[in-house]
Amino acid sequence: MKIPWWRDAVVYEIYVRSFADASGDGVGDLPGIRGRLPYLADLGVDAIWLTPFYRSPMADGGYDVADYRDVDPLFGTLADFDALVADAHTHGLRVIVDIVPNHSSSEHPWFRAALRGENRDRYVFRDSGDLPPNNWQSTFGGPAWTRTPDGQWYLHLFAPEQPDFNWRDPRVHAEFLDVLRFWLDRGVDGFRIDVAMGLYKAEGLPDAPATDQAFKGESPIWGRPEVHEVYRRWREVLDSYPGERMAIGEVWTDSAEDLARYVRPDELHQSFNFAWLEAPWSATAFRKVIDDTLADMTAPTWVLSNHDVVRHVTRYGEGLPNSTTGLARARAALLAMLALPGSAYLYQGEELGLPEVRDLPAEARQDPIFARSGGTLPGRDGCRVPLPWSGQEQPYGFAPEGTAPWLPQPVEWTALSAERQADDPGSTLSFYRQALRARRGLRGALPDGLTWLESEEDALFFRRGALTCVVNCGVEAVPLPPHDHVVIGSAPVEGHLLPPDTAAWLHTP
Ligand code: NOJ
Repeated sequence: MKIPWWRDAVVYEIYVRSFADASGDGVGDLPGIRGRLPYLADLGVDAIWLTPFYRSPMADGGYDVADYRDVDPLFGTLADFDALVADAHTHGLRVIVDIVPNHSSSEHPWFRAALRGENRDRYVFRDSGDLPPNNWQSTFGGPAWTRTPDGQWYLHLFAPEQPDFNWRDPRVHAEFLDVLRFWLDRGVDGFRIDVAMGLYKAEGLPDAPATDQAFKGESPIWGRPEVHEVYRRWREVLDSYPGERMAIGEVWTDSAEDLARYVRPDELHQSFNFAWLEAPWSATAFRKVIDDTLADMTAPTWVLSNHDVVRHVTRYGEGLPNSTTGLARARAALLAMLALPGSAYLYQGEELGLPEVRDLPAEARQDPIFARSGGTLPGRDGCRVPLPWSGQEQPYGFAPEGTAPWLPQPVEWTALSAERQADDPGSTLSFYRQALRARRGLRGALPDGLTWLESEEDALFFRRGALTCVVNCGVEAVPLPPHDHVVIGSAPVEGHLLPPDTAAWLHTP
């Protein structure tokens, strides 16, 4: 039976500002991406997800949109976008774009009008004297309310430059349905929905329990039941287009069951499974996430890194004496992820084994989290450093020679450039290519679910048809289950033992 493309797709997230800069201003752009499509096709991914490239003052790297129907000059033009989509399709790559419905930029014409006192109902404004209307905190630190010169307060769950829309106003609905159509008409294959569990806030805007800041539990801010109606309407629009257009929600919640509510048959096609990304390096933790996910999700997804979290090479190596352990585990986690039923989302640079950049100078940091926390939180710039493509020094082929990238690149990245790794069979890039090729080779041949095989407590062994995936999260080598040959290992697997911090795919007739 033919399944829709997105169900088992490998999607590559492009953080547009940091992927490739063709214009020479130090910021990645759409023509830059277009020039690197052969690399992505060769890597073996099925689709790309582009983070916001719309007109924006960049208070939050483009997640503050001032015009949902245009490309910011920093990134190119609409013609560049059309050319990128056409070329991506020629390379067999689908294109997913980001949509930001919870909030706009404070430079959006609607918000500018609201500040002039016109049509304020499209945002969340309240009278409340000298104190904010409730205790809600911004995700980026500080109160979620800012006072306007005329005395009213407006809500922003993120930076003050990102006012929240009022989804109880029908004009907001109509606007976003139209924005979806605008990009669907231009040929996009899907949408990634920013803060998909936001949008509606509880009537009366009651105080929130302290736990709310972590997107957990029963909340007046997140995951309100009304939001599902929005996605039902969006699904109708997506379904009215030919070619299996899809949507994936960015939903932070503490249960797979709650997550599953966003992917009911008439709502979103997928939602990110952040439990996988949040799990520590532990066979028990991984097994629980896998079991919960497969029990609750009809269209499972897996993700290890993105532009908001510490890169997983660094997460897995945190506090360990051996500096290579993080990378070994990251490679093993990739094999585990690619063996699971469903689709996998990769983040640019993970195929190069990039670590988080921890020592960015304060003056280089641009994430609003850094400034809003008074410099006490590093923010997310460390996973957003522009990619090293080639050469011996900055900008490593990310931009034309002599250009300073918007965030400085570490000198150690000379050894990690795509060019350096391309012809080295032992490199992380070569490993990703082989793993993605092997996965393609198995497409359509594996059953939907998986069977656990008995293993040591610190190991995971699961089987899907002829594929057995083994992962060793412990400190001792473990004996391999019966198999006829090793298809691929995250590190060399010789004899009948699987070393620690290693995974492998075994062919089992
Ligand atoms: C989630 C995005 O991934 C993140 O980068 C952004 O800051 C917030 N949503 C607000 O839009």
